Amino acid sequence: SRASPLSTCPIFVLITQAKESKTFQAIQEERREQAERSVLISCPSKINENTFLDDLSKHGTINKHFFYNSYGAYAVVEFSSRESIASLKESTNIPAVEHEAAVPFKSRLLSLKWPGSQSSNHPMPKFKVQSPLSINEISQLLSEKDSIDEQLQCLTEALELTEENVRLRFLVCSLLQDIAGAYFPECIIRPFGSTVNSFGKLGCDVDMILDLDGIYATSQKKGSGLSLEYQVKRGASERAVTQSILSVIGKCVDQFGPGCVGVQNILQARCPLVRFAHQPSGFQCDLTANNRVAMKSSELLFLYGQLDPRVRHLVFSVRCWARAHSITSSIPGAWITNFSLTVMVVFFLQQRNPPILPTLDRLKELAGPSDKCVIEGNDCTIVSDLSKITLQQNTDTLEKLLQEFFEFYGNFPFNKTSINIRKGKEQTKPETTALYIQNPFETTLNISKNVNATQLERFVALCRESAWLLQQKEILNQCPDSPWGFAALLLPSVTSGAGVKSRRKRKLEPASSRIKNLLDSLKIKGGETVAKKGNA
Ligand code: CTP
Ligand code: MG
Repeated sequence: SRASPLSTCPIFVLITQAKESKTFQAIQEERREQAERSVLISCPSKINENTFLDDLSKHGTINKHFFYNSYGAYAVVEFSSRESIASLKESTNIPAVEHEAAVPFKSRLLSLKWPGSQSSNHPMPKFKVQSPLSINEISQLLSEKDSIDEQLQCLTEALELTEENVRLRFLVCSLLQDIAGAYFPECIIRPFGSTVNSFGKLGCDVDMILDLDGIYATSQKKGSGLSLEYQVKRGASERAVTQSILSVIGKCVDQFGPGCVGVQNILQARCPLVRFAHQPSGFQCDLTANNRVAMKSSELLFLYGQLDPRVRHLVFSVRCWARAHSITSSIPGAWITNFSLTVMVVFFLQQRNPPILPTLDRLKELAGPSDKCVIEGNDCTIVSDLSKITLQQNTDTLEKLLQEFFEFYGNFPFNKTSINIRKGKEQTKPETTALYIQNPFETTLNISKNVNATQLERFVALCRESAWLLQQKEILNQCPDSPWGFAALLLPSVTSGAGVKSRRKRKLEPASSRIKNLLDSLKIKGGETVAKKGNA
């Protein structure tokens, strides 16, 4: 039998089952509660870990802690009870600042100036990495692998959010909630998007929602005959209310938020938001409000990511490939976004024979009564219990899926057809935008409306080029010293001129020139599909 000794142990089996059956909501609640029992402490980098922990333990049991470097050294400390936080806050001093004035707001961001006992040469704490590997480092790492399948698995492990990074993200939301709570004590600040959808990579932004549903929940209870008097504004829309709430919170973050810098109110956007950098964590944060549909689409992507490990491997690979070729960008514009790319991968996996992923309509059919969810007239119901979903047997390798993903979108009829994961079928495009991907829950919206024809053409050209490259023996020859397999697909493209110039010159010349030669030979042989897009 292949079973390891551990898996035959009944306790172990029990634990894995319990872990697997946790719903998205349950996971979020657990993380959120954990964050509320945590503090963030700026500390000297030569800190004596033992004395540091001894001192903090005076306030209660510490469940977990870790150190990291951002703009200086920091520690995240999780206590087992919230009372410890109150006790710790009691014992803190208000800092004396010279020539400057501090706004007295007690937060859970603390700072420790003294490294602790210096007597013996104490060991330095281990600092957990919070930043992503560079493309060159990734390329190096992948080239040491034995197969493309191993490369794609390794890529996910190298890029995905670590346990510590996720904790830090929830902690930053929780710290923000303390600030927003000054106005709205019942509010909850929840992360959404790639922080929670299982496709986040180290270094990605923290998308947050200011959730005020707690206020509505209490006012719904019948009984006293009293109702709350709200400030009512004549003619104001829901959007205007969201804007005014965010503008106040934005101001609060700017004035009172320790470590929050570069606060920008972007209230005129389709989805109004407050953008800022949280310096102690190094995170770029986007705070929105009244954005419950986006939370639901994060849950949907999370669910798809859990159903089959190949989903995450393929999404991470495609996102990494797209970033390497400047198909996606950190600046907003006419480019394809990571969200769109993820939905494209899901759609592709629904098209396999047999399908690897079920349609969104199927996920709705499987939902139980408690899963029912309607947001602003949109039915956002999806099953929350993963064990209700049965998958068909499909044994495609990652290499095959990657190859066929590129072929699929390299030849997709984008001019007439839209991508629809609800039906899992191609549909006729309702309008003439270059790329039409139906929003999973707000079905009259296109999530890739921003994409222009040039950007779509670049994507298609790169898909074709990569599909072609994956068919070349030279690419598939393992070579630990130069990029091969997936790593070779990350090299500067020879077909998209503009992209190459703008990118930094890489040290990977030998393989790059090899691929260039391969491509040149293709052009000579009349491979016009690749060559004709030369200036796209
Ligand atoms: N979203 C949406 N419609 C859009 C864009 C975004 O519903 N047109 C929602 C999605 O749920 C998405 C979330 O907003 O996951 C956050 O958007 P964004 O930050 O652009 O995408 P992420 O998935 O977080 O990916 P990234 O790592 O690039 O931040
Ligand atoms: Mg995001």
